[in-house]
Amino acid sequence: MSQSIYPPNPEFSANAHVASMEAYQAMWDRARDNPERFWGELAETELFWFEKWKHVFEWNPPFVKWFAGGKTNVSYNCIDRHLATHRKNKVAILWEGEPGDQRMISYQELHRLVSRFASVLQSRGYRAGDRAILYMPMIPELPIAMLACARLGITHSVVFGGFSAEALKARIQDLDAQIVITSDGGWRRGKEVRLKDAVDEALTDCPSVRDVIVFQRTGSGISMQPGRDHWWHELDAGASEHCPAVPLDSEHPLYILYTSGTTGKPKGILHTTGGYLLQAAITMKWVFDLKEEDTYWCTADIGWVTGHSYIVYGPLSAGATTVMYEGAPDTPAFDRLWRIVEKYRVNIFYTSPTAIRALLRQGDHWPNGHDLSSLRLLGSVGEPINPAAWEWYHRVIGKGRCPIVDTWWQTETGAILIAPMPGAVPLKPGSGTLPVPGILPDVVDFNGNPMEDGKEGFLIIRRPWPSMLRTIWGDPDRYREQYWSRIPGVYFTGDAARRDKDGYFWILGRVDDVMNVSGHRLSTMEVESALVRHPAVAEAAVVGKPHEITGQAVCAFVTLKKGDHDHDALAKELRQWVAHEIGAFARPDEIRFTESLPKTRSGKIMRRLLREIVTSHSVSGDVTTLEDMGVITRLAAQQSEEE
Ligand code: WTA
Repeated sequence: MSQSIYPPNPEFSANAHVASMEAYQAMWDRARDNPERFWGELAETELFWFEKWKHVFEWNPPFVKWFAGGKTNVSYNCIDRHLATHRKNKVAILWEGEPGDQRMISYQELHRLVSRFASVLQSRGYRAGDRAILYMPMIPELPIAMLACARLGITHSVVFGGFSAEALKARIQDLDAQIVITSDGGWRRGKEVRLKDAVDEALTDCPSVRDVIVFQRTGSGISMQPGRDHWWHELDAGASEHCPAVPLDSEHPLYILYTSGTTGKPKGILHTTGGYLLQAAITMKWVFDLKEEDTYWCTADIGWVTGHSYIVYGPLSAGATTVMYEGAPDTPAFDRLWRIVEKYRVNIFYTSPTAIRALLRQGDHWPNGHDLSSLRLLGSVGEPINPAAWEWYHRVIGKGRCPIVDTWWQTETGAILIAPMPGAVPLKPGSGTLPVPGILPDVVDFNGNPMEDGKEGFLIIRRPWPSMLRTIWGDPDRYREQYWSRIPGVYFTGDAARRDKDGYFWILGRVDDVMNVSGHRLSTMEVESALVRHPAVAEAAVVGKPHEITGQAVCAFVTLKKGDHDHDALAKELRQWVAHEIGAFARPDEIRFTESLPKTRSGKIMRRLLREIVTSHSVSGDVTTLEDMGVITRLAAQQSEEE
């Protein structure tokens, strides 16, 4: 297959942080040959330290520490250190609400707001080591709360506002959180998402929580429990503006973010302070080629890791103007994103393939109706981007002028690991291209032997990096087992990939039971456990099926308990049930009722076969361990009847 290649535009390269392939290669080699020196120097130039570290890293596989003994503070790095520079009055957060309201918060103002909220937390007795759950819409108070926690060393866990009360409860309990910060609601597609109601429902069973602080966003009626619930604005009214950042060890836990693994129970991915921030900050320059005057916009939700690293911590530590938008991309119309780009003259725009595909379908007239000439760089994250979507993004949004950085990374990696440096690396649509300096990925077989170029295998990373997860909260054994045991001694990503003759990486998708729906990770087991909690369901097996827009969609095979069932009504009810148990984004696209599920002799559901049924509509490969071949034949026949 012929492959289009897009070399960097010389004009772009001339001004880029990394201006040539030679410069990139030299940096990468330097990092490989002497990681200690490479990362040590960067930590000194890119971050502020109250006290210098003792060692750049300490690697006791599979546990690593970066810059241990060094004292720093994420909130200080994201705010305070900019105040002595021309950035004092620069816009830090440029926010637009879905209804069209706007706020522009300068670094100086952000300092005031964060300090006030941190003193509120401090005066209520919260301190380093405590844990806060943040369940908020995309409003400035979310990063304000994150930065206030970071200022004091309170470990935060942001729960995406699309998660249901049940999912919220599970996270609060797993974390033993002492405080929940939320709002009455937020706006999405013109409707209120009622967050405080969900908090009330979750808290019926969370004895660890002492306080709930509620920001008033929508002004709709909610109930407030005296003693437990407090309005943000009331606490803020008496708050001190003096609340210095606490010097914390570089390995102090900054946040825990839950993500889906291969079991029904989400994993609390733990990120710490210095190493995480360094890599989030430096990739802003390497990958997004951030310049002082840029207006930068990442459209993710802060509830996911992309929002943590590339709306809040990366951009603010790099002193950028970061745009934040509260609502949906199609509200009030399909040009909302392009309207925002035009209005604020956005220069760097970072989004997901799902969003690109959804907007592409609506026609070129939506973007063409806006002046997008301010854009100079585009980014993509969350799933492989198919060449057709890439070409459209490049031609219609970037007008052929803007490089596209396809960034591969994970909640666990904390920051981008594979992506082009746009002034240096020629692009190939659909490939994340080459690893950033300090990252040694490889494609290997089951035994850890490197695959030949062009052959598919497991994507692994050979060495620890600064923004790597440190553990799974409360479960170090699972951390070791999930990431460091499949292939001993290397980090197992869970992705399949191949490398081409130029050393470019092509990510092919997950090799485990994790689905990727609209760039959101969802475990098959999580949806299955939700389904079997329904009284009518006997068993369930869930697989991701290819979907034109969302990449994958949830497809559930369900067997029912004995009784008369109205299948249509029940399918509807089960879809709703999953939305209630996990969140609307997990709602199955399709429910298929079946007499039985394909299982191995030991009783394990063979999802691989179901996956083949929904993907290629037939079954190949090894079925010798299958208990009842008839099941597969029936399921496949049912499929062809439906078509
Ligand atoms: C997938 C999101 C191809 C991959 C930052 C990974 C990608 C999972 C890309 C992590 C990309 C992410 N190309 N696949 N550019 N970026 N993925 O934890 O399967 O929500 O393992 O982190 O998304 O998803 P997560």
